[in-house]
Amino acid sequence: MIEYGRVKEEFTGSDMPLAFVDLAAFEGNADAVAEASDDLEVRVVTKSLRCRRLIERLLERDSFEDVMCYSGYEAAWLLNSGVVDDALVAYPIANPDEIEAAADADATLMVDSIEHLELIEDVAADAGVCIDLDVSSYVAGQRVGALRSSLTPEEARDLAVDADERGLEVRGVMGYDAQIAGLTDRTPNRSKLGDVVVEALKNRSWQTVVEKREAVRSYLEDAGFRELFYNGGGTGSLHLCSGDPALTEAAVGSAFYYPALFSYHDTVELEPAAAYCLEVTRQPEPDVYTVRGGGYTASGPVGPDKEPQPHLPEEMTLSREGAGEVQTPVETDVDLELGDPVVFRHAKAGELCERFRELYLVDGDEVQSVDTYRGEGRCFM
Ligand SMILES: Cc1ncc(COP(=O)(O)O)c(C=O)c1O
Repeated sequence: MIEYGRVKEEFTGSDMPLAFVDLAAFEGNADAVAEASDDLEVRVVTKSLRCRRLIERLLERDSFEDVMCYSGYEAAWLLNSGVVDDALVAYPIANPDEIEAAADADATLMVDSIEHLELIEDVAADAGVCIDLDVSSYVAGQRVGALRSSLTPEEARDLAVDADERGLEVRGVMGYDAQIAGLTDRTPNRSKLGDVVVEALKNRSWQTVVEKREAVRSYLEDAGFRELFYNGGGTGSLHLCSGDPALTEAAVGSAFYYPALFSYHDTVELEPAAAYCLEVTRQPEPDVYTVRGGGYTASGPVGPDKEPQPHLPEEMTLSREGAGEVQTPVETDVDLELGDPVVFRHAKAGELCERFRELYLVDGDEVQSVDTYRGEGRCFM
């Protein structure tokens, strides 16, 4: 990421909070993703970007083909505005209006049950669907994986056959390995022993993931489904995905901004690219400065890994007060002045954009502002 001197030069005196993306780091991350995904196509995970201009920029690359959306209305908006040609909605939708909007735009809808098929059939008789396969492993009856689909490979095949018989178009299978991609290898709130257990679980679970994806692909091919896409992975498992022969594509989003939480993952080498600036407004103690705003804590189980991380100037930590609603004290030896920017990384990627209407794209000496989804008046969740 750009150095603190450049941040100061560019943003001191600007209205803060403001968010920026260092384009050199963003493009470097995209190069790293392209290299790691090898022969797999990259499906860009829009929830982790939430900025149309940056999604478009990624899709200009050769192996970055399509998008994975988090809402049916979002998919319809991106397809109808011509930003993308193909959108997969990664999570099932229960609202008939949203299903209809997404299907009318030819988005692919996620299903893991007969109820999902019935809902879709009612409003969009020939919609495209993707079967959500459970790739969790089970240890002593406990699921190691996300609480999403519960479909075994055989059940996934049966659901595909059922969908086909109803006239729906089966387009692909997704098997998201949340227990690898979404589980950090280290965190500040876990012991070293905990990390060792997690490593063992992840290694073992990856075998299950590969076996289940291979099984579903073979069942579906035997049942006559030959042209499907097989999607898996995420930023946290990208280093493994190209070694899975059942996959045709990898889903990747967070890698491009590389938010703080992913610093706790052993994955492809990436560089922080997105951050936000808050301005110093007072100094309560010699080594403590208070900046205005900042409490942008990420979703998920509460813990220090969900807090924003002070990033620049270096050697700075949050105080015991954490990131506050309207004020955030930070501790540092560096001398700062009132009005100086302090740079933070959000723990997650796209959530940052729910706080900001625009992103400043820093391209060397040039800076250009682009709208986030929120800046375009869109709020999908
Ligand atoms: C279905 C699915 N695929 C992939 C991902 C990975 O996205 P990212 O690369 O932003 O971690 C997610 C994230 O939650 C997901 O839900």
